[in-house]
Amino acid sequence: MERTFAILKPETVSRRLIGAVVKRLEEAGFKILAMKLIWASREQAEKLYEVHRGKPFYPELIKHITSGPIVPMVLEAEDAVARLRRLIGATDPAKAEPGTIRRDYGISITMNVIHAADSPESFEREHKIFFKPEEILTY
Ligand code: CMP
Repeated sequence: MERTFAILKPETVSRRLIGAVVKRLEEAGFKILAMKLIWASREQAEKLYEVHRGKPFYPELIKHITSGPIVPMVLEAEDAVARLRRLIGATDPAKAEPGTIRRDYGISITMNVIHAADSPESFEREHKIFFKPEEILTY
């Protein structure tokens, strides 16, 4: 079993789509090992998106992810990182395949519903920004 890390973004929480997206994740076979509703600090946002620092969209990205409550989560499944990326679809909802979460619920490239770790290394780095080891449940 592999683990991955995802965040339901502010526009997902404010539009009351937490349940709809979590349902899709659970139906696809992902097991939730950790999940919480938080308002990310600027420090957490900057750490999460540090690889994008300096890019033209970086200020908007930080502003958006700190604009309201978000739902970070640790998920487990076979081949979790790649499977979650396929399930959510391309970064730009307009270019995402039909049937993907971003295609179905995305508003724009910034408001694209959900963030997901792009590698096992990103999972390791990113989940620690939001969760303590004891918050990740083994069951
Ligand atoms: P996410 O999976 O959270 O990872 C980085 C985010 O940067 C990405 O989703 C998009 O919301 C955003 N992003 C990536 N590329 C662009 C871009 N070209 N213009 C605006 N935002 C972008």
